[in-house]
Amino acid sequence: VSLLKYNTLGLDQSCQELINVESVEQLIIQCQRLQALNQALLVLGGGSNVVLTTDFAGSVLRMNTKGIEVEQQADGVTLTVQAGENWHQLVEYCLQQGFYGLENLALIPGSVGAAPIQNIGAYGVEFGQFCTQVEYLDRTSFKLNRLDNQQCQFGYRDSIFKQALMGKAIITAVRLFIPANWQPNLSYGPLKHLSADTVSAVQVFDHVCQTRKAKLPDPNVMGNVGSFFKNPIITAAKFALLKQQYPNIVGYPQDKGDIKVAAGWLIEHAHLKGYKLGNAGVHDKQALVLINLGHARGEDICRLAKYVMQVVETTFAITLEAEPRVMGSQAEVALV
Ligand code: EPU
Repeated sequence: VSLLKYNTLGLDQSCQELINVESVEQLIIQCQRLQALNQALLVLGGGSNVVLTTDFAGSVLRMNTKGIEVEQQADGVTLTVQAGENWHQLVEYCLQQGFYGLENLALIPGSVGAAPIQNIGAYGVEFGQFCTQVEYLDRTSFKLNRLDNQQCQFGYRDSIFKQALMGKAIITAVRLFIPANWQPNLSYGPLKHLSADTVSAVQVFDHVCQTRKAKLPDPNVMGNVGSFFKNPIITAAKFALLKQQYPNIVGYPQDKGDIKVAAGWLIEHAHLKGYKLGNAGVHDKQALVLINLGHARGEDICRLAKYVMQVVETTFAITLEAEPRVMGSQAEVALV
């Protein structure tokens, strides 16, 4: 079965079997069946954070479970959302219902069930700020477990699902708390000029959509997985040194005095914006995005990624870390 339609990089790899799961009961039955067959399993949400480097010698499971439950509370609402819901549609739904807070996370591709894994974030807001619980299926015991916010260990593009529970859990639902006393988050560059006193959540949403559309390529037109690298975090001392040499370098101070550096800036100033290698390219409007120029293979993307990492390393002595999951024939593999 071709996976072309199921990964936003548009890589033409296949799998032995594609399973669409419509309920948690079905999910459990399928997982038990695959385990009995000793068959490798890859779970895909929107396929917007994966690089397929080869055909997958196993089954691919797509979570299609749907449903949004709303519980009114004195100080806000609690939403219980099934993993197969589309993230952007959830953001739109909340806006329509007057549940404000998720608007900065508009247009992030992918499913709700994938959101906790890398703790999706944009324009000063992260998924983890709203998440009170994640429910997942334990792939060994076939039992449903729940983790509260703390237990999820949310960090910058990180969570327990990328660490201790990597490959061990299938997220089935998330619970979000949206406080009623909405405050716009305008901390991030392109939103800074909006006025906190007068701006509406819909205006923030529109602004985020506009900004994203201007910079990030539409995966339906040009295959990509959004940012290909994380923004690296370096010490203030190292940043100060770089700043002497590159006065325009972009960095954001972090909690412990470290600085998160804009990897897009580094890549652009290593003269790689618009660079092409085989059928893969560095996007010419946002250097942090690698694109499929047409008929690229996962290897092309990985080769370009490694080249970008190497040039950034030699230019700035900073090691970039890839953000999407790179898949081999049966399991996740390292990029380098
Ligand atoms: N920049 C450049 N050249 C470039 C790209 C960026 O100089 O080619 C500079 C920009 O001028 C700006 C700074 O870098 O000063 C930051 O750029 P941008 O606002 O585009 O954000 P980013 O740091 O590149 C991060 C997230 C995005 C998220 C945006 C907005 C990561 C890895 N990426 O990108 O998330 O949408 O901030 O909050 O943290 C994703 O994860 O897939 C993603 C798109």
